[in-house]
Amino acid sequence: MALIVPSILSADFARLGQQVEEAQAGGADRIQIDVMDGRFVPNITVGPLVVEAVRRHTSLPLEAHLMIVEPERYVEDFARAGADIIIVHQEVSPNLHRTVQRIHALGKRAGVAINPATPLAALQEILGDIDLALCMTVNPGFGGQNFIASMVSKIERLRAMIQQHSATCDLEVDGGISVETAPLVTRAGANVLVAGSSVYGAAGGVASAIAALHSAIG
Ligand code: DX5
Repeated sequence: MALIVPSILSADFARLGQQVEEAQAGGADRIQIDVMDGRFVPNITVGPLVVEAVRRHTSLPLEAHLMIVEPERYVEDFARAGADIIIVHQEVSPNLHRTVQRIHALGKRAGVAINPATPLAALQEILGDIDLALCMTVNPGFGGQNFIASMVSKIERLRAMIQQHSATCDLEVDGGISVETAPLVTRAGANVLVAGSSVYGAAGGVASAIAALHSAIG
């Protein structure tokens, strides 16, 4: 079964530790921290300090999704802060192979993300070296955006590419994942689903939202 990874972007930051504990108690498989610098994306969020704080409230694997320029400058900081998986964007990583090597040298898993308009070919040469390929299903920067339906075909083609290369990386999706879209992306080949607003914005609370996502993907 696919993994459910709540992202804290839509959590209540005034009680973030409690929200993370709720996600773990509610059956989350990992937690994602959305890092934004106001340059790669039109929003500014958090840095390593918040990863450190979240680390103290959960034993789940932490993903640091670096939606920032020059991510290679900060991988050590996020590794030291307690991230288990460090995800960088291909679009801002001209020396991507070196960055992936650096993340692995730090004892962490390496993820590479691509935005909706970035061709899959951008992942082709690195697919065999990474632990996670993240296919963005919204344009990054904000929670609560609508799922981009044309990404279903891209997910299918990415799954086929992973199989053709005999790669072992996860296929993660992020953006607009809900009980409606979750089955679409898992049928297309995603095995890790990031969900922010559908978890932390749910009227019934975090645990029931996670349970609903798990049941939506069967
Ligand atoms: C990029 C962020 C969001 C977040 C999930 O904007 O990475 O995709 O994690 O947000 P939702 O699930 O609310 O679309």
